[in-house]
Amino acid sequence: MVKVAICGYGTVGSGVADVIFENSDSIARNAAEEISVKYILDKRDFHGDHFENLIVHDFSIIENDPEVSVVVETIGGVGIAYEFTKRALLAGKSVVTSNKELVASRGHELIAIAKQRNLNYLFEASVGGGIPIIRPITQCLAANKLDAVYGILNGTTNYILTEMIQNGATFEEALHQAQENGYAEADPTADIEGHDAARKICILADLCFGRHVNPDDIKTQGITGVTLADVEYAKRLNCKIKLLGRAVRTGAETATAYVAPHLVSTSSLLSNVDGVMNGIVVHGNALGNAMFYGAGAGKLPTASAVVADVIDAVKHTKARKYLDWEDAPSGYFTDSSYLPSRWYCRVETSLQQIGWAFGKVNFVTYPGASGSEYAFATDEYDEATMLKLTGGMTVRSMFRIID
Ligand code: HSE
Repeated sequence: MVKVAICGYGTVGSGVADVIFENSDSIARNAAEEISVKYILDKRDFHGDHFENLIVHDFSIIENDPEVSVVVETIGGVGIAYEFTKRALLAGKSVVTSNKELVASRGHELIAIAKQRNLNYLFEASVGGGIPIIRPITQCLAANKLDAVYGILNGTTNYILTEMIQNGATFEEALHQAQENGYAEADPTADIEGHDAARKICILADLCFGRHVNPDDIKTQGITGVTLADVEYAKRLNCKIKLLGRAVRTGAETATAYVAPHLVSTSSLLSNVDGVMNGIVVHGNALGNAMFYGAGAGKLPTASAVVADVIDAVKHTKARKYLDWEDAPSGYFTDSSYLPSRWYCRVETSLQQIGWAFGKVNFVTYPGASGSEYAFATDEYDEATMLKLTGGMTVRSMFRIID
């Protein structure tokens, strides 16, 4: 019997306890061993909870119990989550996590500690919630040179945008629903400002390109500036507004990544990734494109990925050596502003000035549009050029268009 400790009894941690309990038979079959939860660490007490008797408040109980071989970290953040992960690994326990902030910023260091001790540090649930994406990238696509990865990486913002697009909901109403459904982070700023997606695209870039990308280096724009007017204009351009994280190799030894709202063409599969669903496109030189789709957030989908990692850790008690990346040499990470694309602009200016800056553009309007603004789609420019061309205009929105 394998004993597991769960650190952090929030949405995901409680889902992990439920899945291990409810699916114990199939989990035992898949792991070839029975797995049970011995401790649940949390600051709080949970009187009347089914697992009330497993609650402990002191991490050293877990650290010093030789019976515990796998620690699940679902605390989040980089504070005590980092400390407990390190202490668990140093105490000889494999660690499984859904904590994208910790993996994106300190994953390389924690993997190194795990490898030195021949343990596992696994994080399938850190990107795409329940979607299998880490293993496909590192195992199934291992024959490819991967040169681009992009997609809808945050369930909360995709839920909010979908509610705005399909039901005309306000931003606040939709955010409230996402919080009620357990999709949002404890502080939803990380979702709506794009930081959560930034951490995830860093992890994907680390794994796809093999070099560390620091989340602090990447340009991150969230969805707080997206309005119902943008939604309406986008419809007239046969697009939907989606928050995308995108990472691309820009040369033999260079890469870039960013997070921003995009107008995604309705002819693209990504445009139909709605609600809390995530969709991730990976491009490899042998494979071409593959898209991974599924529930990107929520208690049980995320727990499903965590528990699969627990099973993997139990089946492979020695370190999974393929899961790693190197430090990046200086100059590896390049400025995403120089990536060209078509752009959607909503500006206040004169028609004459738009003509001078862009020549002929594709204007759009809708009944009820503000009379003082123009919306249009441009040809391909890099962002630096776009900022120069729109320099004399009042720019309300400026998003890349992707097919
Ligand atoms: N807050 C995250 C999201 C949870 O909405 O995608 C899953 O990482």
